[in-house]
Amino acid sequence: MRFDHRHLLGIAALRPDEIVTLLDLADRYVSQSRDTRGHAQTLSGLTQINMFFENSTRTQASFELAGKRMGADVMSMAMQASSIKKGETLIDTALTLNAMHPDLLVVRHPHSGAADLLAQKVNCAVINAGDGRHEHPTQALLDALTIRRRKGRLHRLTVAICGDIAHSRVARSNILLLHKMENRVRLVAPPTLLPSGIEDFGVEVCHDMTEGLKDADVVMMLRLQRERMDGGFIPSEREYYHRYGLDAEKLAHAKDDAIVMHPGPMNRGVEIDGTLADDINRSVIQEQVEMGVAVRMAAMDLLARNLRARPSEIMA
Ligand code: NCD
Repeated sequence: MRFDHRHLLGIAALRPDEIVTLLDLADRYVSQSRDTRGHAQTLSGLTQINMFFENSTRTQASFELAGKRMGADVMSMAMQASSIKKGETLIDTALTLNAMHPDLLVVRHPHSGAADLLAQKVNCAVINAGDGRHEHPTQALLDALTIRRRKGRLHRLTVAICGDIAHSRVARSNILLLHKMENRVRLVAPPTLLPSGIEDFGVEVCHDMTEGLKDADVVMMLRLQRERMDGGFIPSEREYYHRYGLDAEKLAHAKDDAIVMHPGPMNRGVEIDGTLADDINRSVIQEQVEMGVAVRMAAMDLLARNLRARPSEIMA
């Protein structure tokens, strides 16, 4: 089983065979997570610290559960309420925690590149749980696992990623992963919500849902990331929903068996129709949450194996 990394900082550094290794292992953890009898001891004796500098419910809970289900000692720090408020820098906070010898550091931060910076300063394995607009690797991996289980493959699919691409680390990590696995990626968004130079990522770009969803196997909706917007990117939520919100009528342009995804938290009636989001025949949103725990278990398992095999060696 090859996974030659000390950290999981982004999809960009992963090879296709490493992505497959991780997803295969995650598949095994899905059944293990459904079994309520006792916990695995894969991470027993290891300490996992979750440092979330941004509000998070599902991702933090998912990492916490994943660690606990594998027997790690898990500690979640409420970073907003802690030393950061007293003016300490990210690096000083990290060095302080590093001195307590954790094995796995899970970090979410509003600044792009924060996880990479941390990884250079600490001895433990760092997992990026979302850094600014940059990457959110475990989200793309859990989306990939959901797609693979539903569609039976993770290549030669047409995936439409719709909405606020410009501010989304989920979109970026998904584009990288789906492109590496040889899928056709179509971005559907108003021009104001697309980053410049996005065509260089090997994607198709559309400004219209009818055209963008045509023959799609997967329709992935994104939240409007208002906290990262510094101006008016859309005329109004009503107008946005009318043009880009996913409802049954727009979904009819995709393939008959197309699945609907959303990383959450979703805004019903802004980016997606509430009834469609709850339609278990089309929407896999709850399944994505379940796959999240399994993917995080697999990621921490692989990193822990490398830590145990090569405790001092610095890998990519
Ligand atoms: C995403 C994130 O934080 O980037 N959410 C998540 O991880 N569940 C997407 C979002 O906030 O819209």
